[in-house]
Amino acid sequence: MPFAHITGWGMSVPEAVLTNDDLAKIVDTNDAWIRERTGIRERRIARENQFPSTLGAEAALKALEVANVQPTDVDLIICATSSPEHIFPATACLIQDLIGADKAGAFDLSAACSGFIYALNMAAQSIRSGSIKTALVIGTETLSRFVNWKDRNTCILFGDGAGAFVLQASEQPGGVFSAVMRSDGSGGDLLSIPAGGSRHPATEAAIHAGSHYIHMDGREVFRFATRVMASSTKEALDVAGWTVDQIQHIVPHQANIRIIEAAARGLKLPMDKFVVNLERYGNTSTASIPIATVEAATSGRIKPGDKLVMVGFGGGLTWGALTAEWTGPLPSERKVKPQKGSTLRRARSFLRRILRFIDGLLSPREL
Ligand code: COA
Repeated sequence: MPFAHITGWGMSVPEAVLTNDDLAKIVDTNDAWIRERTGIRERRIARENQFPSTLGAEAALKALEVANVQPTDVDLIICATSSPEHIFPATACLIQDLIGADKAGAFDLSAACSGFIYALNMAAQSIRSGSIKTALVIGTETLSRFVNWKDRNTCILFGDGAGAFVLQASEQPGGVFSAVMRSDGSGGDLLSIPAGGSRHPATEAAIHAGSHYIHMDGREVFRFATRVMASSTKEALDVAGWTVDQIQHIVPHQANIRIIEAAARGLKLPMDKFVVNLERYGNTSTASIPIATVEAATSGRIKPGDKLVMVGFGGGLTWGALTAEWTGPLPSERKVKPQKGSTLRRARSFLRRILRFIDGLLSPREL
């Protein structure tokens, strides 16, 4: 049975920074309150022409370059997102087109902020089963577009960004070892975007009521999160047959420093085992775990051979944890050219549209 190794990683965040002081000019809040209650100092906000697909594609191309893999070698793209560009087509398909992953299947995975853990596990299982060799797993968000900028309970928390991993099959032991995925739909109303789906379509009344924004019971979500972070980490470690002392890093969902500190207490681990960067990005939902991992791997903090746990929670309610041994790029004879220029890829996508149009004109109409 092949192992599923993490062989490439990349991230992309918008350039625009929104500080706590900037927020204090919009809603009744202040820097001291936000830092003390959440740990967040600033977050990134997408420009009008930045979308989950464009941020996700940038992160994916960087990850492919690290892994030394061509987009055309990718078999499967799973995009975890809480801010999909449309109900359909899937954001994963938009990314597939943007990067030119011509032979990949592509779908979105909706498990709110736990989505990246779920997606990584699904991709790893597809590789472990032998049915595919190479997968791209992406967490990407422009949640700022679902934030009610008049609601100080939520607008201080979220930010935009994307992170991506390449997973590859290898007979060498390593990569993803175990995962647990859990849910409790009875808590769905604690964190939701009520309107815009088929129950409450995007009518004038829904928009007037602000039901298309993020709604959250902060205190209940906080209580739930502090309960599940340590317990799911322990469960994933048990499944892998590892003890907590064997792991070098925990990469938690970057929602609130107090939730991470509670997890550290629950696991009896020092805070320096936890990779934390929420002060600079806020909660980027599905992107928070890959962005934190990418920064730690790029700075050399996470090294090949290190054992780590990624653990997250979110709307649904959902939560989960995953253990992995960090690998890095697999040995390869050929060197893949960096996939920088987007003009060629755009031209290819445009050509496909033209060919589909011509094919439509030439095909006999069926009655
Ligand atoms: N600035 C200033 N004051 C604020 C504020 C803000 N942005 N938001 C709330 N307050 C006020 C409240 O109105 C309340 O005032 P009151 O005592 O006069 O009623 C007081 O601060 C305490 O509010 P409370 O909601 O108890 O604060 P808290 O310590 O629970 O922190 C959260 C609020 C949202 C930061 C915290 O509950 C949290 O992080 N929850 C989890 C959210 C989360 O992670 N969501 C994403 C999951 S993926």
